[in-house]
Amino acid sequence: MKLIFERSVPGRHSDLLPVCDVPAAPADYAPRTRAPRLPELAEVQVDRHFTELAGETRGVNGGFYPLGSCTMKYNPAVNERLAALPGFTDIHPLQPADTVQGALELMKTEEKYLCEITGMDAMTLQPAAGAHGEFTGLLLIKAYHRSRGDQARTKIIVPDSAHGTNPASAAMAGFEVVNIASDANGYVDLDALRAAVGPDTAGLMLTNPNTVGLFDPHIEEITRIVHEAGGLNYYDGANLNAVMGIARPGDMGFDVMHLNLHKTFSTPHGGGGPGSGPCGCKAFLADFLPGLRVGDSPEGLVRQTALQTIGNMRSFAGNFLVIVKAYAYLLSIGREGVPVTAANAVLNANYMMNRLKDLYPMAYDTVCMHEFVMTLEQMKHQIDVSAMDIAKALLDHGIHPPTMYFPLIVHEALMVEPTETESKETLDEAIEVFRRIHEEALRDPEAIRMSPRTTRIQRPDEVKAARKPAVTYDFGA
Ligand SMILES: Cc1ncc(COP(=O)(O)O)c(C=O)c1O
Repeated sequence: MKLIFERSVPGRHSDLLPVCDVPAAPADYAPRTRAPRLPELAEVQVDRHFTELAGETRGVNGGFYPLGSCTMKYNPAVNERLAALPGFTDIHPLQPADTVQGALELMKTEEKYLCEITGMDAMTLQPAAGAHGEFTGLLLIKAYHRSRGDQARTKIIVPDSAHGTNPASAAMAGFEVVNIASDANGYVDLDALRAAVGPDTAGLMLTNPNTVGLFDPHIEEITRIVHEAGGLNYYDGANLNAVMGIARPGDMGFDVMHLNLHKTFSTPHGGGGPGSGPCGCKAFLADFLPGLRVGDSPEGLVRQTALQTIGNMRSFAGNFLVIVKAYAYLLSIGREGVPVTAANAVLNANYMMNRLKDLYPMAYDTVCMHEFVMTLEQMKHQIDVSAMDIAKALLDHGIHPPTMYFPLIVHEALMVEPTETESKETLDEAIEVFRRIHEEALRDPEAIRMSPRTTRIQRPDEVKAARKPAVTYDFGA
């Protein structure tokens, strides 16, 4: 595929824009010594260029995308329609409150719904991502211990089955991270937890369901141990898709948590849009919440600030239009749809896992939640075909690879999360592809090691691509 600069022809242009009627700046005003070398093309060429680029992109709209830990569920078009309404797009965060009552009401109602789903008492919608929500929650924990004059609580306990952002957020918030190992079943090792807690424990961060797709059966015992030691319990709720409407972190003994609207609540990820990681807490922490809070007054809804706020985590209301999209999603699935969504996510994962486990050994052979982890260690050892090779081979069949080599506690891991938005037919097709690739790997391992064979680029140097991406065009002279 040609770069847009390679298609450029001097003098070619689109007549779409009117001739500039702004007087040119004086020569000594602009530091630029020559005009920018923009590509010169007709509109149709620009259109075709971007259409071709879009065709090269893999997304949920293009095919099965079982990227474990990321919940790449379908983002319904109605979310986008609602978020594009001028009443949401044409407002300014500094407008007087009485002119944006609808937006404030939406935020207040969404906070109420999310609190009801999670069992929390208050929630800020300000954080811009899951990890940002974690950081916010940890600052709440810090503010709480400080407010009680308890400066000795400097450590956050993080099980090794936590999402990688958990220890990173704890370190960023200025805590010392205490790592504890999982037991043989992939759950928190209770003895290790009992040994780790003490007067220096600020809290525990638990990812549940954890990164191996399991719900910890000792969850109430875990939160009790931490509370008895004087620490607070943080719930990484990014995986709430498996349990929403069925079990609530607030009822399990958790004091603070975050959600990923761009996972569970069907808003786009990454290149598809910014994220949102609301952070919820129990009432005794609500006074520390950051940023804009929506409150009642005789004149209507007003913007407020919590009494002992930790400050702003982001400007104004956070990624407001993402919040609108999640609101649209919640309204469209309704109260009854929340647990059904979770149940179907778990059902789909268990269906796929059970139809694959005779060929692909599972890291933990038990009922999984919304995702499962296979370990290809034996395959690697016996025929030198790795998790990476299988993942790359899937690309030849139009399937986005699952998450590879994560979680770190599983060797040659492939982590598969189908989500509830996939039909049984799609799952059956994907299962068939996995099985065919396995058969080909045994028959012709070299062919699988050469995969993908149908894509424009086969095996780039991934470290170089990530660390030294070529994002500028070299004009030569
Ligand atoms: C369990 C879990 N926690 C935290 C995060 C971090 O979220 P974000 O990537 O939005 O910062 C993720 C991301 O997928 C996650 O899966």
